[in-house]
Amino acid sequence: MSDNGFKFSTDRQGIVSNACLPLDNEPDIISLRPETLSEYIGQRETTETLQIAIEAAKQRGDALDHVLLHGPPGLGKTTLAHILANEMGGKLVVTSGPALEKGGDLIGMLTHLGAGDVFFIDEIHRLPKNVEELLYPAMEDFSIDFVFDKGLNARSHRFRLKQYVLVGATTRVGLLSSPLRHRFGIFRSLEFYDVDDLETIVRRSAALLQLTIDSEGARELATRSRGTPRIANRLLKRVRDYAQIRGDGRIDKQAVTDALVLEGVDALGLTPLDRRYLQTVISYYHGGPVGIEAVAATLQEETDTLVDVVEPYLLKTGLIMRTSSGRKASEAAFAHLGFGRKS
Ligand SMILES: Nc1ncnc2c1ncn2[C@@H]1O[C@H](COP(=O)(O)OP(=O)(O)OP(=O)(O)O)[C@@H](O)[C@H]1O
Ligand SMILES: [Mg+2]
Repeated sequence: MSDNGFKFSTDRQGIVSNACLPLDNEPDIISLRPETLSEYIGQRETTETLQIAIEAAKQRGDALDHVLLHGPPGLGKTTLAHILANEMGGKLVVTSGPALEKGGDLIGMLTHLGAGDVFFIDEIHRLPKNVEELLYPAMEDFSIDFVFDKGLNARSHRFRLKQYVLVGATTRVGLLSSPLRHRFGIFRSLEFYDVDDLETIVRRSAALLQLTIDSEGARELATRSRGTPRIANRLLKRVRDYAQIRGDGRIDKQAVTDALVLEGVDALGLTPLDRRYLQTVISYYHGGPVGIEAVAATLQEETDTLVDVVEPYLLKTGLIMRTSSGRKASEAAFAHLGFGRKS
């Protein structure tokens, strides 16, 4: 496995393909991934927008507008790209912003796309500037301009592309340049899932994995999954292991609670890193306000990890607040960590 978090994929015959897939595309997780919009749980406004856009495009015999998906990790952006390709009857070509180092890489991929294919660029906010500029005409006019030779002999040739659909995913929409953002016809932010939707996801995954889980167990797991389907699926597998070794294999509320103690996941679903973050703001910085760089330095974590992974959920649940002078811990955060009332 390479250290950028990608690994080579292997198809069913064991043949290694040259396509790089993110870790969460591993076959066992793929099996939990919904394949159609109707199987996709939650995010109702997004799925409705997409459903309408797909039907309308199909009726007109047109390509779908380009789609930009924004949201914290694990909420289902990659899954939606797979679904869009399925629903449009096209193939899916996956890449990511940092992987597209040279313009040539992008041109190579674009020229091989067929009509209705979905070209998925993950972490699109990390696309190099020179590559991003090539993408503008490729999105707007379905064409790319090649320049041959230099100086007086320079000639340009316009290559027409098929009507593909670009799906961009980003955890940080603020880092996207506005010319790029404006070239997407459909822009949706994915929200954290509520407990009901996560419970449905847990039940669906449990059924696919052929596990027995009772309703209290499913509810408890959903409550502690940080609003995130990827976490729900990951924890479900840990609870499955626990129930198999320490119990009779059946998953109930007790099995979930006991297994999650071992995972360091607390009653609110916070991870050890979430709690260390809150603890730092509260005990080192007296509850804030404190700048994110200072918190990152104290925790010895990357600022990006805190901003992309840790903070969105803490903000959503009101445990921290973002103010112009920095991050502040809320009363609820003090109470959750057992610090009593904020003085
Ligand atoms: N709406 C959903 N219904 C059921 N399962 C879902 C849903 N959304 C996501 N999942 C599950 O969660 C997993 C993670 O989703 P996905 O890989 O699409 O997240 P992501 O938003 O692309 O994350 P990242 O930003 O880290 O790339 C999927 O493998 C899938 O099994
Ligand atoms: Mg993804």
